[in-house]
Amino acid sequence: MTHADILAKLTALKDEIRRHDNLYYAKDRPEISDTEYDRLFRELIDLERQHPELVTPDSPTQRVGAPPLESLTKVPHEQPMLSLDSIVDQEEVQAFDQRMKRELETQSIEYSAEPKFDGLSVELVYDHGIFTRGATRGDGTTGEDVTVNLRTIRSLPLQLHAKPGIPDHLVVRGEVYMPLDDFQALNRRITERGDDAFANPRNAASGSLRQLDSTITATRPLVVTCYEIMAQSSPVPPTHWDELERMAHWGLPVPTHRRLCASIDEVMDFHRETESIRDQLPYEIDGVVVKVNRRDWQDRLGMKSRSPRWAIAYKFTPRKEITVVQDIAVSVGRTGTLTPVALLKPVEVGGVTISRATLHNADEVARKDIRIGDTVKVERAGDVIPAIAERVPIPGEQRQAPFCMPDHCPVCGSSVAREGAYFYCTGQSVCGAQLKGAIEHFASKHALNIEGLGKKTVAQLVDEGLVKSLADLYRLSKDDLITLDGFADRSATLLLESIAGSKTVSLDRFLMGLGIRQVGQHIAKVLAREFKSLDEIMSADRERLQQIREIGPEISDSLVAYCSEPRNREVIAQLQESGVQITPGLAMGNRATSPLAGKTFVFTGGLDRFTRDEAQRAVETVGARVSSSVSKKTSYVVAGRDPGSKLEQAKTLGVTILTEQEFASLIGEEGKKLS
Ligand code: IVH
Repeated sequence: MTHADILAKLTALKDEIRRHDNLYYAKDRPEISDTEYDRLFRELIDLERQHPELVTPDSPTQRVGAPPLESLTKVPHEQPMLSLDSIVDQEEVQAFDQRMKRELETQSIEYSAEPKFDGLSVELVYDHGIFTRGATRGDGTTGEDVTVNLRTIRSLPLQLHAKPGIPDHLVVRGEVYMPLDDFQALNRRITERGDDAFANPRNAASGSLRQLDSTITATRPLVVTCYEIMAQSSPVPPTHWDELERMAHWGLPVPTHRRLCASIDEVMDFHRETESIRDQLPYEIDGVVVKVNRRDWQDRLGMKSRSPRWAIAYKFTPRKEITVVQDIAVSVGRTGTLTPVALLKPVEVGGVTISRATLHNADEVARKDIRIGDTVKVERAGDVIPAIAERVPIPGEQRQAPFCMPDHCPVCGSSVAREGAYFYCTGQSVCGAQLKGAIEHFASKHALNIEGLGKKTVAQLVDEGLVKSLADLYRLSKDDLITLDGFADRSATLLLESIAGSKTVSLDRFLMGLGIRQVGQHIAKVLAREFKSLDEIMSADRERLQQIREIGPEISDSLVAYCSEPRNREVIAQLQESGVQITPGLAMGNRATSPLAGKTFVFTGGLDRFTRDEAQRAVETVGARVSSSVSKKTSYVVAGRDPGSKLEQAKTLGVTILTEQEFASLIGEEGKKLS
């Protein structure tokens, strides 16, 4: 590789890792398994090791974790919250032991071994035995204050046992996670409501703990286990084992399955035994954490930038099974993206039967060289979403030709275009798959909110040829609907009523409904606040759009591209011709005349008469807006049940405080009805 090649490779790796960090830490929406992420990270470490002169201070290897979200209050940790280096091979464990022996100049080291819980780590502060503060790890230096949310977790003691020797000030570290049965039950509840399920228990735990509304956290079955004393005002016990026992003595939950190992061989035994009972445990673990037991030795070994030298995460090999690719199908998404999907001979991996696995994109299929008929290893690395780990070559096998993306869309036959690793169907609304996706999105809750127009009905309408464009929705008759499976006179009337009811729509909801790439609910609102009409938006150029805070080059490019496409202009014109009226501003748009226009509301605590979503819509209906933090500019703080620290802030700043009842009367019952 030339110098330029190495630089390019380093930049690409760093960008990729940062993107996944953001998806994982900030968005709770990881796209790759931990194994895949670890592979990328190791590749970067290796490359940097070979070229230390090219290591930049902003490289993901040079810092601990990722930035916290803006919306929860940030708090600095008393001690940095480190991460752990992970290993999977026995040789690496031996090498770790050798390193410890060399650095400590001894032949005998005691290790403490315990499960590596697959959740999110938290800092817990106890003052005089009372739980006073808790924070997520965040970037390792600064986390998010989730004290009120942590208080809802039953296994977290709010008061420690008043035993002798309890320190005045104590900071412990633990892991918050969700037991598997509870995770499955939660996902069932969520999907029944029509919302998206969590991909795995770790995401469910993280999403539940990092809620702005702690009453939601309280309904989530979270558990905490503590494994480290980070600081205390009296001397810390001499070994990690004593530390765990001390914590248990005070009433803190600590790992019950753990072992004090006299040698690294005993650590290996513990790892093997723990892996063999992994599937019987009620919660997910992904390895064993091995720690040098003596704390004075821990101090002597010290730490690197991201992790301590005295501990290691000895991971389990991800759950893998072997099966055969029976076919490679290509699915078409709402925006026309073609995704190759491997159809597998059904196989059970870690208790779940798997018959499909996404292959992400054409480059991925080529990189892994997966073809129809191949034998492959399927992996479920703590995740519920299965992936193909690798192909298993069979000696003497006759392989089929390499997989090629089709030239024509498998759904509508339109030609396929390429953008980098991605392939798109150019058919847009001609394509049944895209049309169905577009209609579902148009009708969804935060867009035109057409009740009764779910996935199944949309599929019937498109497949029967009754709806060929969004505007056709407004031309449907009762006779059309009654011919469909599952429709009777009353259900047809109801659907027609809700379609008719969507004809007058606010600019933000209409924009959201168009499904323009990069324009989700929030950006739609930003645009609707800035522009008086759809025409103004359609004729705005990139420069004009980028003058708006929150609108960057990607969003403006996407909007301009959408608006300059004649087919899209045609869709909008047809909708308007069929009677859709777009009212300026945000939801219902009587903001100009409302005395509350331009005011800012902050909510704290639980509400009884409104959901948070309803309250937000009610506020927007009158042209005001909701903010998550209190400042001097806040007009009103609405204090519900068990209000949080925002109430105190409001008092200090002299902001008007309303009860829920007062809020309801101020906003008027109209606010609630209209939204
Ligand atoms: S000790 C300084 N012990 O694993 C050492 N970590 O990959 C701090 N984790 O961020 C960590 N179970 O969230 C430790 N028994 C355990 C653990 C554990 C899970 C998590 C922790 C950490 C991650 C590192």
